[in-house]
Amino acid sequence: MTVSTPRLAPPASAPEGSEERTPTAEVRQALPLVTVRGLQVAYDENTVLDGVDLDLFPGEMVALLGASGSGKSTLMRSLTGFAPISAGTVRVAGHDVTNLARGELRTLRSEVGQVFQQFNLIPRLSVMTNVLTGALHGAGPINLAGGFSTAHRRRALELLDRVGIAHKASAPARSLSGGQQQRVAIARALMQQPKVILADEPVASLDPKLAGSVLELLREIATQDGIPVLVSLHVLPLALAHSDRIVGLRHGEMLVSGATSQLDAATLSPLYDDEEDGDDHDH
Ligand SMILES: Nc1ncnc2c1ncn2[C@@H]1O[C@H](COP(=O)(O)OP(=O)(O)O)[C@@H](O)[C@H]1O
Ligand SMILES: [Mg+2]
Repeated sequence: MTVSTPRLAPPASAPEGSEERTPTAEVRQALPLVTVRGLQVAYDENTVLDGVDLDLFPGEMVALLGASGSGKSTLMRSLTGFAPISAGTVRVAGHDVTNLARGELRTLRSEVGQVFQQFNLIPRLSVMTNVLTGALHGAGPINLAGGFSTAHRRRALELLDRVGIAHKASAPARSLSGGQQQRVAIARALMQQPKVILADEPVASLDPKLAGSVLELLREIATQDGIPVLVSLHVLPLALAHSDRIVGLRHGEMLVSGATSQLDAATLSPLYDDEEDGDDHDH
């Protein structure tokens, strides 16, 4: 008796060269890169975040709003294991931040690009070198004398071109304007090939015109690269103009969470109800 091998029919719907384009891959694409549930953070007896939920999906720019002291920076720090989490779950790029394996913290931090209010560049070093330091994340102690590969240099230049300051590559970082320095910092974050970008008040030190252009750059990165960007902002109109979703904190609790298109200044004003006088001119 002979056994014939059944002929395998070619897959009905998969065009050549696209064997990875299964429904599963598409579903995976739509999964959030960040999932926070019931987050509570306490410093000693002081609970500074309570019951915070947050999802960040690929490609979206989410503005984090709230008065000074409402917990914006603490929420961002929670995502990279820099805050004392007392309850809840935090998942970032596949890592369980409340239960990291040995050595996993460094990987997590290398996968999260960060942008800060004060840029945090090394002022005396060139723009190019500052961007290249992004490649050292997760690579152990920084050794600037070690040299960078040609591939890294090419990539750094491409990124500088993308953020519009390739012509400043060899200038010391300190010689650049604030807006330009923040662009360097964004290029440095991209050098990490981040899965998520966190920007904590990235435009608070810039004048309003530059602020808008830096936020648009971040938003373009979110859209084009599919990297979620969480950006804390103090100025409401900037959040309304440059985000897909808004999450609002008051006294460490989530008061608002919704699509930016569904929100306006009136809906968001309770976030600033008890903002101290001083930096606004309302009566
Ligand atoms: N390391 C810390 N130790 C103690 N309290 C802290 C620490 N970091 C932040 N806080 C407190 O947490 C609250 C939220 O701070 P923060 O997250 O910096 O707010 P925001 O960024 O919205 O201004 C504040 O009351 C602040 O004093
Ligand atoms: Mg802050």
